Amino acid sequence: MGTRESNDQTGGAGRRALLGAAVLGAGGAVLGLPGGTASAAGARPGGGLRSLPVPTVIGHRGASGYRPEHTLGAYQLALDMGADIVEAGDLVPTRDGHLVCRHEPEIGGTTDVADHPEFAGRKRTKSLDGVVTTGWFTEDFTLAELKTLRATERIPANRPHNTLYDGRWEIPTFEEVLRWQDEQTRRRGKQVWIYPELKHPTYFRKLGLGLEERVARILRRHGKDRKNSPVILQSFEPTSIQRLDKLVGNPLVVLLSGAGSRPWDFVETGDDRTVADLVTPEGLREIASYAQGIGPTLDLVIPRDAAGRLKEPTTLVRDAHRAGLILHPYTLRNENPFLPADFRRGTGADAYGDVFGAYRAYFATGIDGIFTDHPDTGLLAREDFVNR
Ligand code: G3P
Ligand code: CA
Repeated sequence: MGTRESNDQTGGAGRRALLGAAVLGAGGAVLGLPGGTASAAGARPGGGLRSLPVPTVIGHRGASGYRPEHTLGAYQLALDMGADIVEAGDLVPTRDGHLVCRHEPEIGGTTDVADHPEFAGRKRTKSLDGVVTTGWFTEDFTLAELKTLRATERIPANRPHNTLYDGRWEIPTFEEVLRWQDEQTRRRGKQVWIYPELKHPTYFRKLGLGLEERVARILRRHGKDRKNSPVILQSFEPTSIQRLDKLVGNPLVVLLSGAGSRPWDFVETGDDRTVADLVTPEGLREIASYAQGIGPTLDLVIPRDAAGRLKEPTTLVRDAHRAGLILHPYTLRNENPFLPADFRRGTGADAYGDVFGAYRAYFATGIDGIFTDHPDTGLLAREDFVNR
């Protein structure tokens, strides 16, 4: 199914220029130098998506392979490692309407909330996008209450070393992230990019906690709501991205889960389409009318067989590029259980597989970037790729 395409086939001169930028960007990262890749590579000046090295290395929830996710410690390490963009953060609201960085509204698995007897009575069972979920939810806490909690490692079986940092960092707010971005940009003399995701927009709107207006208002207040602002916004719900398109000028990315899945906003509005419909040339053209890119799960780029081994790439990269969309698939992690079976080594749940082999396969498809929990590994893989 599909063809394995070279980068030249998938993009032409523009993409070759950006690959030049990638060479410089990776070198800069390794040497600890400012990137400054846009003008050096002849790309469009003035910032914007095109100033980023390609393939772009995105620190997923920070450098979450090494620190508890969505903490300033994880974000900082991703930047220090040289990530081009930091996914700071996945955004969910508090009861009093603040935006905080957590992967899910349920925070039992990523904080010490269960150790706080004063919050024992807040434990709830809710239907979250159709999934019955039990735990503690950010929308039931004020920001002041959440600030008494501390972040913990989500997957200690895969990342036992990260538990060393349990209890060290608070839950960051979106406002704190934007101030951190400015401070890091000043210190480094290089623009720092972030890639926040709006989580469960339909769920929160029904609770009276609409996300899009809040995100737009905060970005506007910080002067970061424009086309060339160093903030890419993402969501799994296409109607959320459409709403954002009317509110802000930022680059927008529609996330795509498995082919058979249906975005929750589609379920709520009775739109029968699944992700399989959205990744057709027609579906992609429609996305391109309000977004600049897609963030597909890696399996939409290269499917796996029943044994978990990679099959031939799909035509998604070619089709998305033809529609004018960039692709930032998610998520590559170094540990065995998260890798295609071809690249697992040994049986340890916390052992690393041949992740460089996996990067070679995915980069060869012509993707524009990748979310990874291990940005340092991703940067080395990019260096190998652009120098091959
Ligand atoms: O945002 C890209 C990727 O993070 C989407 O997956 O579930 O990790 O937020 P998730
Ligand atoms: Ca995310």
